Amino acid sequence: MSEIVRKAVVPAAGLGTRFLPATKATPKEMLPVVDKPAIQYVVEEAVAAGLDDLLFITGRSKRPLEDHFDRNLELEDTLQRKGDLERLAQVTESTDLGRIHYVRQGDPLGLGHAVLVAEDHVGNEPFAVLLGDDLIDPRDPVLPTMMRVRAEHGGSVVCLMEVPAESIGLYGCAAIEPLDDPGVVRVTDLVEKPEPGQAPSTLAVIGRYLLDPAVFDVLRATEPGRGGEIQLTDALRTLAAMGPESGGGVHGVVFSGRRYDTGDRLSYLQANIMLASEREDLGPALRAWLTDFVATWS
Ligand code: G1P
Repeated sequence: MSEIVRKAVVPAAGLGTRFLPATKATPKEMLPVVDKPAIQYVVEEAVAAGLDDLLFITGRSKRPLEDHFDRNLELEDTLQRKGDLERLAQVTESTDLGRIHYVRQGDPLGLGHAVLVAEDHVGNEPFAVLLGDDLIDPRDPVLPTMMRVRAEHGGSVVCLMEVPAESIGLYGCAAIEPLDDPGVVRVTDLVEKPEPGQAPSTLAVIGRYLLDPAVFDVLRATEPGRGGEIQLTDALRTLAAMGPESGGGVHGVVFSGRRYDTGDRLSYLQANIMLASEREDLGPALRAWLTDFVATWS
């Protein structure tokens, strides 16, 4: 089995109902974060980590996503003729990223099912899964650490983050045992979106996974769980209980860097403001305006 991780799977078949009506005809992955579609940040993160083979799991009305990562010759031609090379570079940036493939999920049966749809493309190799709702700041990359942990321990690796106790019910939650390696833990159990009082910790699974291909057989045997969906968390729970000889074992990298959640409206707005306020071109004016705005507010 090849140990070099080169493939990334990006589930993008969700309906984006939290952002209706904006997502009626536009995939939620295409909503801009400042001035770039949210999904482009995720693709850039994967490519920066050496994952240049990307598979999007899509569904109906995801054409704009495919168009975004394809050439737009008419636009390129117009910008070229105008001599607007800066904007031309912005347009071609997304086409030159990696080798991008698409497969449709068909029935939306959950995140675990979306990952299972990737099996033919991935084959018998370890692979990464990146969820579009979580943006990881490029200054705090986590995929390289997850790859190191996979190289040292085998099995699968999840990205964990401490969250307030009142938010843990929004995430997969991990029970862990500490290891000597700082920031790395062994995952002993997982619960998808635990009920209040049922969470084994306040360590949430964030949308970055490095999976052993053994996950495919496990997913095939995983019954629908939370919300009636086939949950990736439930498959990881099974993998955590399996031995290394069969591709089992799950470790966690505890991430303490900057992460932006674009999964619901409030955190999406916050992500836009945080990222824009750090930009050289927009930051100074935005910060000054925000300071004035907040002063008149209170
Ligand atoms: C999914 C996973 C959950 C994970 C979360 C991270 O949930 O099922 O385990 O913690 O992504 O963003 P979703 O947010 O898609 O409901």
